[in-house]
Amino acid sequence: MTSARTNAEGGMETSYGFQSVGEGEKQEKVNEVFHKVAKRYDIMNDLMSAGLHRIWKSAMIAALNPRQDAGYHLLDVAGGTGDIAFRAIEASNRLARATVLDINGSMLAVGAERAEKNGLRGNLTFVEANAEALPFEANTFDAYTIAFGIRNVPRIDVALTEAYRVLKRGGRLLVLEFSDVDLPLLDRAYEAWSFNAIPRIGKVVTGDAEPYQYLVESIRKFPNQQNFAEMIRRAGFSRVTFTNYTGGIAALHSGWKI
Ligand SMILES: C[S@@+](CC[C@H](N)C(=O)[O-])C[C@H]1O[C@@H](n2cnc3c(N)ncnc32)[C@H](O)[C@@H]1O
Repeated sequence: MTSARTNAEGGMETSYGFQSVGEGEKQEKVNEVFHKVAKRYDIMNDLMSAGLHRIWKSAMIAALNPRQDAGYHLLDVAGGTGDIAFRAIEASNRLARATVLDINGSMLAVGAERAEKNGLRGNLTFVEANAEALPFEANTFDAYTIAFGIRNVPRIDVALTEAYRVLKRGGRLLVLEFSDVDLPLLDRAYEAWSFNAIPRIGKVVTGDAEPYQYLVESIRKFPNQQNFAEMIRRAGFSRVTFTNYTGGIAALHSGWKI
C-alpha cells in the first residue's frame, strides 16, 4: 500500500486508491464504486467540490468551443451522468451531437433521465462500453472529452491510444482531471478537506464512506501534470498543453490529432 503518485511509466493499472490490486482487478472495484454512488453522484459532486466542478467544467467547454453545426460529433468518455455532453450541446446552440460513453449502466441511466428532462435526448446517444476498447470506427469524432474519468480507467495508455484512433485528423482531446496542487498552503488545506471531510460527507449523504475514500486516494495516485502530458504525447497526440485550475486542484490537458 503506497500513497506515492504514479508517473508516465504507469502504475494506475494496479492501484485501487492506495491499495495494490492484481492486474485485471481494478475495473470491477471501480464499477462497484460507481454503481453505489450513481443516484447521489451529482449532489455529491457539488458538496465535495463546493460547486467548483461546475466552474472547471464550464472552462473545459469554453476551451472545446464546439462548432455550432449538426455535423459536429463529440465523444464524451466516462461521461457518467452527462454533465460535459449537456454543456457541449448547449454551447453549440443545441446543434451538435454527442455520444456519452461509460462502462457503468447505473451512471448512464441517471444521465439519460436528466437528458430527457432537459430536452436534449435528440442530440445524444448513450453507449455502455469500456474506454479501453471503444466500439467505434477510426476517424469518427471531432472531439474526445473525458472529465474526472481517466484516473478510474485501469490502462490509461490503452484508453489514450483508443482516443487517438477514433478522432478525426484535426480532432481534439481534452482531459479534465484532479491534479497536483502547486501552492503549499492550498495543498495542505485541500489534503485535510479531501481525507477528513469528503469520506464523512459521503457517509452522511450516501450511508457509505468507502467509495469516497477510493475517490480521494485515486486523486493522490494520478500522475502529475507533466507526467500525464507525457502519456498523452506517447499516445500520438501533438501540441500537448495543460492549464491548471484553482492552483492545480484540477487541470485541463489538451492534445490534437494532426
Ligand atoms: C467521477 S465519474 C465522472 C463522470 C462525469 N464525466 C463527470 O465529470 O461528472 C467517473 C466515471 O468513469 C466511469 N468509468 C470508469 N472506468 C471506465 C472505463 N474503463 N470506461 C469507461 N468509463 C469508465 C465510471 O463509471 C464513472 O461514471
